[in-house]
Amino acid sequence: MNPGLTTVSYIGAAILFILSLSGLSRQDTARRGNLYGTIGMALAVLATVTGAGVSSYGLLVPAVLVGSVLGWTLAVRVEMTGMPELVAVLHSFVGLAATLVGIASYLDPNAHFASPAERSIHEVEIFLGVFIGAVTFTGSLIAFGKLRGSISGKSVLLPARHLLNLAALLVCVVLGGLFLGSDNMAQGLPLLLAMTAIAAAIGIHLVLAIGGADMPVVVSMLNSYSGWAAAATGFMLSNDLLIVTGALVGSSGAILSYIMCRAMNRKFIAVILGGFGNAPASSAAAAGPQGEAVAITADETAQALADAREVIIVPGYGMAVAQAQGVISEITKRLRAKGVKVRFAIHPVAGRLPGHMNVLLAEAKVPYDIVLEMDEINEDFPDTDVVLVVGANDIVNPSAQDDPGSPIAGMPVLEVWKARTVVVFKRSMATGYAGVDNPLFFKENSRMLFGDAKKSVDAILAHLPG
Ligand code: TAP
Repeated sequence: MNPGLTTVSYIGAAILFILSLSGLSRQDTARRGNLYGTIGMALAVLATVTGAGVSSYGLLVPAVLVGSVLGWTLAVRVEMTGMPELVAVLHSFVGLAATLVGIASYLDPNAHFASPAERSIHEVEIFLGVFIGAVTFTGSLIAFGKLRGSISGKSVLLPARHLLNLAALLVCVVLGGLFLGSDNMAQGLPLLLAMTAIAAAIGIHLVLAIGGADMPVVVSMLNSYSGWAAAATGFMLSNDLLIVTGALVGSSGAILSYIMCRAMNRKFIAVILGGFGNAPASSAAAAGPQGEAVAITADETAQALADAREVIIVPGYGMAVAQAQGVISEITKRLRAKGVKVRFAIHPVAGRLPGHMNVLLAEAKVPYDIVLEMDEINEDFPDTDVVLVVGANDIVNPSAQDDPGSPIAGMPVLEVWKARTVVVFKRSMATGYAGVDNPLFFKENSRMLFGDAKKSVDAILAHLPG
């Protein structure tokens, strides 16, 4: 492909990526957004692979084939509940790629610079790219472990952790100065590698220090970092499309992190610096919630639904695990046909991924106009007859409002307890992701429908008058 055609393809791909992001911002245009993104990426890969920068296909073709087969297999196999882990791993790949490209670009024997200034600029790009890449790589691996449950969700707080981070950052700055002043590769490489090791330790430390309830922010923050790592790689390789794409991912990830922080009533900087989401338990939390939980059966729940005028369904992570959304959609259809007003209340961090519940409900063909965000519906609970909390826990926990010592204190929650009756679908009295007890289960108007959510909704559908 000649350079002119490559540039045109890059511009086309960049426009498609922008259209993709704007499409993905609304449920009814999300499919189109996804398609734009796919076409844009195919165009970008094709233009790069056939571009002037590629001189040999001996290694490239097998690498692209192996990558494509791996990506395809992962995408086909991954369950919706495993999506956050997959996203975290993919972020780590971007970080690793930026680190390796940076080091390789420093070692490139064919690199020529028109002036010492050009050389210094390239070395700054390398140093920054490797730093961001290494932080993203190890941070994403730790996030993967936390989301998967193989690393404890609790925050690990080293003494004087902020000072440690600051000291590590300062050492990196000093190493950067020495690196720029080094005369040859033999002097520069050990400095670059030393900084890589310190940056990798910063990535581990930053994410280990963030507690369970704040993981949504970490996922979107690492998304942002991976974008900046890609942009840095673009500078190193003088690839304009990579710079544009990296900047798009970096800034959209930063905006998403900000939105998440607002939704969880957290300070952005505080979450980034770590140590939140794991406050010491208050006396109330330590004593555990008081009272007795009252169980309800599926046919009693079906009867309550049939007698209701207004129903709100609150889906959570357990609905995704149980794959109960299809039957819930069927129940909704049946109730609406009988004249019952049914709506869905979506908490911004329900499930394990931004928009997790919206995707599942859209897949189950629940009409968009009855799926409402927390702010749109939170005031309507007092006028609601029955609330079904399907596999949700942290997002409906009243201690976020009532107990200042709770690890989730201050996080806005769906005020389901204000409805006449709340039916909570879950398998046991276990805690949710944040590991916090939930006093909702012991409220006078709460009823527990124990069992797998899919089995429970199947039984309700069977008992609902047709
Ligand atoms: P959780 O608080 O995690 O509660 C889910 C509940 O579902 C659990 O209490 C569990 O209880 C129940 N459950 C699991 N499998 C079930 C099944 N097959 N049938 C019935 N119930 C089942 O979920 P949530 O309320 O959606 O809150 C989300 C949490 O995840 C928040 O703490 C949030 O900060 C965190 N988080 C969110 C994200 C994003 S971006 N959304 C990312 C990372 C972390 P049993 O075990 O007793 O059944």
